[in-house]
Amino acid sequence: MCRLKRFDRSYKIIYNKELSLNYFELKINIAEDVANSCSPGQFFMVRVPGVFLPRPMSIYNVKGNSLGFLYKVVGNGTDILSKIRTGEIQLLGPLGKGYNLKTYENLNYVLVAGGTGIASIYFLAVRLKKQGTLYYGVCSEKDLLCLDNLEKLGWKIVVSTEDGSKGYKGYITDFLSNELKKNTDVVFVCGPTPMLKKILQIARRINVKGFVSLEEKMACGIGSCQGCAIKINGQIKMTCKDGPVFKIEDVEL
Ligand code: FES
Repeated sequence: MCRLKRFDRSYKIIYNKELSLNYFELKINIAEDVANSCSPGQFFMVRVPGVFLPRPMSIYNVKGNSLGFLYKVVGNGTDILSKIRTGEIQLLGPLGKGYNLKTYENLNYVLVAGGTGIASIYFLAVRLKKQGTLYYGVCSEKDLLCLDNLEKLGWKIVVSTEDGSKGYKGYITDFLSNELKKNTDVVFVCGPTPMLKKILQIARRINVKGFVSLEEKMACGIGSCQGCAIKINGQIKMTCKDGPVFKIEDVEL
C-alpha cells in the first residue's frame, strides 16, 4: 500500500536567508503530519510566484513543525524565490521514494555529495543512527555548506574542491575508488549527473552496492507529464514517482 502523503497548500515562510554567496535556506512552517511523513531523499514541488512551472527541491531538514530547503540561485525562478522574505508559499509533497534506511543502516556505509546534492545527503546524515565518512565535492571553498553541523553530528568530512581552495584538489570521484574499497558495504550518493556516472562505474567495478538520488528536471512531480523519464533496469521509470532514489545496480545513465 502506498503510504505517501501529498499536500498541496500554502505554508508560512519562517525565513529565506542567504547562507553564503548565492546559496539560500528557505524555512517553512508546516503541519505536524506533513513533517512526520518526510524522509531523506524525498522532495517537494515548490511553486514560485510568477513562474509557470513549480520546481523540485530536496528536503534539507525537518525539525518539529519546520521544513527546510537549501538552494542555489541559478536562474530566473530561484532569483525570484531568493527575494521573497515573508508570506506564504505553495508546496506539494513530500513526493517520491527516498533512501532505504531500515535495510542498510547497520552496514558500513559512506555518503557522497556533490554541489547542492548536500541538501539531500545532509538530511540523510541527520537521520542515520550511525555516523561515518561523508565525501563532499564542490567547485570552490565558497560552495561548501553545512560542514560545522555535520561535524557536530559526528561525521568525518572529506572535502575536495576543483580549484584546490580547500581539501583535495580535483573531483571527489578522483580518489573515491580507493576509499570505497576500504570496508564499505553501501554508498549513498546525490549530486550532478557527471559525478553520478563516475560513481556508478566505480561502485560496479569494486562491487559496492548503494543508492543514487537523481537530479532530473521535473514539471509535475507526480508521474503525470513523463518529463523525467529514465531507464531503470531496462525499463522506463519516472524519476519523480519511482525515484528520485534508485539502486546503483539498476540505474542506466
Ligand atoms: Fe512529470 Fe516526473 S515530473 S512525470
